[in-house]
Amino acid sequence: MPLTNKKSRIVVIGVGAVGSTTAYTLLLRERMDELVLIDANQGKAIGDALDMNHGLPFLGQSKVWAGTYEDCKDADIIIITAGASQREGESRIDLLKRNVAVFESITTEVLKYNTDGILIIASNPVDIMSYFTWKKSGWPVNRIIGSGTLLDSARFRYLIGEKLNIDSRSVHAHIIGEHGDSELPLWSMTNVAGSTINFTDEEKENLYLDTKNAAYQIIKAKGATFYGIALALDRICTAILHNEAAVLNVSTLLTDYHGVSDVFLGVPCVVDRNGVREVLPLDINELERTQLNQSAQKIKDIISSVSM
Ligand code: 2OP
Repeated sequence: MPLTNKKSRIVVIGVGAVGSTTAYTLLLRERMDELVLIDANQGKAIGDALDMNHGLPFLGQSKVWAGTYEDCKDADIIIITAGASQREGESRIDLLKRNVAVFESITTEVLKYNTDGILIIASNPVDIMSYFTWKKSGWPVNRIIGSGTLLDSARFRYLIGEKLNIDSRSVHAHIIGEHGDSELPLWSMTNVAGSTINFTDEEKENLYLDTKNAAYQIIKAKGATFYGIALALDRICTAILHNEAAVLNVSTLLTDYHGVSDVFLGVPCVVDRNGVREVLPLDINELERTQLNQSAQKIKDIISSVSM
């Protein structure tokens, strides 16, 4: 990426709980020069932009405004959080039909104005929405990134860290597959600074279930999840804007990956200024390979059952 004087711009489409918390997180961490908020409810975007602008004297130099799709033109990153979110008792897959329709119109508009940015998808079911966006855009696949199992992996690391009384940043643990009910833990690769963790099977199962069911628990308690996902989206943006080549469990297209092809799923990916540079090869065991294939099959069956 050549050095230019161009201002960095992030557009957030959809400023419900996830979008506005993400925008606020990006602003607090001074990730970009320009932050554009777009929502079908323009009043909400205008109100959020005003509210955030009033905090600028306490922050940096970012410019924030409620924009239109035309503002996607110069965007480095466009984050889509729009669409319906889970209600109590719903799975992420239950949102599919509603969100495909919303995405159809959003991607048409974004693609009209932006040809070289990076699209980050957070709307659920995120693996399917990312696949749909990739198909529809015709963009190189490295520039379409789903938030994938980055948040699930963070939840997993947090829970393991709590159990061991160790800073979760020192816990190396991955959840891969669907961001949803068929996701799987990679116990064979879980460690603290290279040192193996010895949990019983029951402890492992409970840690996995608590990770997988975290969103249901939060939605039951307060109606929605937004802080965790906002920080995960901020992490992806930072890896892109700083050309970090960080390994993050985001959702990307898998091709001949442990027997899985033609589906987006969360796996460890190297993320840099061009988006997903590569999928990391994984040394997983037979059980994990089977579970990854089951997760892929579930998503593929759903994709082929809806007309996109
Ligand atoms: C989450 O996992 C609901 O997908 C959202 O927090």
